[in-house]
This record gives sequence, structure tokens and C-alpha cells, in this order.
Amino acid sequence: MTINYIVQPGGKLTGRIRVPGDKSISHRSVMLGSLAQGTTRVTGLLEGEDVLCTLGAFRAMGVQAEGPSGGRLVIHGVGLRGLKPPHQALDMGNSGTAMRLMAGILAGQPFDSELIGDASLSRRPMGRVVDPLRAMDASIASAEGGRPPLRIKGGRQLRGIDYALPVASAQVKSCLLLAGLYAEGETAVTEPAPTRDHSERMLRGFGYRVQTQGARISLRGGGGLTACAIDVPADISSAAFFLVGAGIAPDSDLTLEHVGINPTRIGMLNILKLMGANIELLNAREVGGEPVADLRVRTAPLRGIRIPADQVPLAIDEFPALFIAAACANGETVLSGAHELRVKESDRIAVMAQGLKRLGIEARETPDGIVIRGGRLLGGEVDSHGDHRIAMAFAMAALRADGRVTVSDCKNVDTSFPGFANLATRAGLSIEVRSGR
Ligand code: S3P
Repeated sequence: MTINYIVQPGGKLTGRIRVPGDKSISHRSVMLGSLAQGTTRVTGLLEGEDVLCTLGAFRAMGVQAEGPSGGRLVIHGVGLRGLKPPHQALDMGNSGTAMRLMAGILAGQPFDSELIGDASLSRRPMGRVVDPLRAMDASIASAEGGRPPLRIKGGRQLRGIDYALPVASAQVKSCLLLAGLYAEGETAVTEPAPTRDHSERMLRGFGYRVQTQGARISLRGGGGLTACAIDVPADISSAAFFLVGAGIAPDSDLTLEHVGINPTRIGMLNILKLMGANIELLNAREVGGEPVADLRVRTAPLRGIRIPADQVPLAIDEFPALFIAAACANGETVLSGAHELRVKESDRIAVMAQGLKRLGIEARETPDGIVIRGGRLLGGEVDSHGDHRIAMAFAMAALRADGRVTVSDCKNVDTSFPGFANLATRAGLSIEVRSGR
């Protein structure tokens, strides 16, 4: 079964909406809630397929949980040593976060396990977690080129390492910190650039001591996690499509409620503002250790920019949406230092360049980025290559296109943003979901 979006050109985005819960925080709440002592109550959980894979894995290892329903999940934690051996391979679906973070947890268990994923995930590099986990004395076998599946041997006593991350990756950092819970001594990770710090924040929320000294984050094994309540903010990475949509569609005025604005996640706000976007942060507050605000965005003329290198890791998931903003901006937008985009759910540089060209926009790939010249968006057919963020980005492009935009292979939108088409319709996008074979 395939899902295609048929999006009529024009329209504007208005009103107030709340996009679903933050994916990164939702994964972590399921993981830490499962490994804690006591009952963790989560509200605002993202009920997307990626998070459901993580939850399914813990259920397969004996964790009892009620929900999720309406964003609520109650997890009866089993403690760090309470997981049971799963009877079959744990399927992480499309989720790189699930596979990489779970690898860290599973490396410290007394039992063997196997992590598998879908075709996209099976192409993604896992050597970045497998190599440092092996340095911690974990025993992990991967397929050729460090790809999934990962076969993890249990019963190993891990030992802490002091690791300098070769790439700025929150997934690798988090994987090692989670393995560090089971390791002897101190596990430390030094980042080449700041990455999202939800793991550190949430570990502290569960009562675990985590030290951050500049770029070095460390913890000592042997402690325990204590259950707590978690209110997951709306995902800024999902809000991104609406921020761009309302920014480019004439006469738009849209407010996105309760959005997480953690400083390690707001690269796209900074980039859009440099491009001239009109975005206001209202009612800024802190919820459960994470900063949150309502974001009001109104249409504004955008200009092309050279994207500052330090913003790249802070906007890493938002580039598909940002490329649509660049296509609607005056002049050229230049991105470099973003090689990581080539190893996401798809090669986001290649797939976005291909789609933009289909819509009449000049886009030139470089090894680690792209150059996009703003222009007139035509209607046309674009293939998302099964990448959720690319599907949603091109759906928004229709707001400024001359003709209808058809986006194919959109099923994976459910991994991060179930209900996207309905919510987009409510805000003013003329989008039809067509399923076929
Ligand atoms: C994530 C980290 C980022 C991001 C991904 C979620 C996380 O990946 O792209 O969507 O939850 O830790 P990298 O760690 O590969 O940068």
C-alpha cells in the first residue's frame, strides 16, 4: 500500500494548532520510564510509529505499560536490571534513534538480543555506535559496512570510556550515556559541537547525576533511575513545516502551541529569522525541565543566506523544510557542513535537490550541502523516497506553487507526525491523501 499527497496550489495557514509530541523526548521517556523504579506517567507522548517501536521493544522485554492513548502512557518501570530476554528480534522500523539508543541499553543486559529495521534503517550507519560500544567491552556484530541488523551478546561487564565523538550526534552521545548506566566507572562523551541534550536533562529528571563541563558530558555507572512525570512538548521538528508554510504563504498568521524550544533544537528558528521570517515567541515557560513557547508566524519576504555552520547540528532535522523556504526566498541560500543529511531516513541532499528541480527550482548538490536559488515554484510530481520529512516539506511547497503538487511515498509520515494531513487541512492547506497499491 502506498500513500500519496495531492496538494492544490495556493492558500494560507491561519489559526492555532498543536503539533504532536517531540519524537526525541518521547523515545527517551519510554526508555527511561521502563528502566526506572516506579511508575512514570507521560503526557503529550508522540504516538508515531518510531516511538511505538521503542515501546514495543520494552514490552517484548517484559515492561508493562498502559496506553498510549490521547498522548498518555503509564509505564511500570522494571529498574535497570529488570528487563527480560526478548523471544525474537526487536524491530526498530524506520527509527535510527530507537536503534542507536537501544544498542546502548542492550549492550549492558545479561541476555542476547538482536535489533532489526526496515529497508531505510538497514542502510544506515551503525558503526558510529558499535565502535565505541566495543571499546566499552560490548560484544556486537553488525552486517557489512557496520549496518543493521545488530546482534548483541549479553552478559558482558561494560567499562566506562572517555570518548571524543567524531560526528556531532545526539544519538551516539545518548547511546553511550545509556550504556554508561551499566558500566564500571565513568563514561564520558565530548562533542565536537552542541547536540540536543534531552538525554542529559531527562536522566537528571529521573534523579541520575550527569555532569556537563563544556562539551564533555559524563556519568558514573551503578546508580538507579526513579520514576517521574513527563509532559512532552510539541515537536519543533514537526512545527517546522508549518513555520515554513505560514512564512511563505501570503496572508498567513498561524500560532503553534506548546512547542519545545530547547536551545539545542532552535537552529531552524535562528536560520529562518536570518532569512527575514516573522516569528514571535510567546508565553515562554519551562515544562518538566524543557523550555516551551507558543510560536506565532506571519508571512514575510525571505532572503537567501549562507547558513551559519554552528546552526547546522541545531537544525539537522529541519533542512527539508528550510530548503522549501530557500526555494521561496530572494537570492541564493548556501548550506555546507551538512554531510549528515546524506545518512538520514533518505539522502536528504540528493532527494530534496531532485524534488526541487522537478518543481522548477535551481538546486545544486555539493558533497556536504546544497545551493538553492529562490524562484518560481511550479506544480509537479515529487518522490519523497519514503522520507517523512521530505514528504511534509514538499506538501507545504504547494502553498507557493503555480500548480498542483503530488508527493509520492508518504506512508512514513506516520513515523513522526500521525494526523499531519488533517492538521494541515485545519490550518488551511488543501491536501488530499490518496492510497494505492
Ligand atoms: C536525534 C538525533 C539526531 C536527529 C534525530 C533524532 C535524537 O540524529 O537527526 O532525528 O533523538 O537523539 P543524530 O544523532 O544522528 O544527529
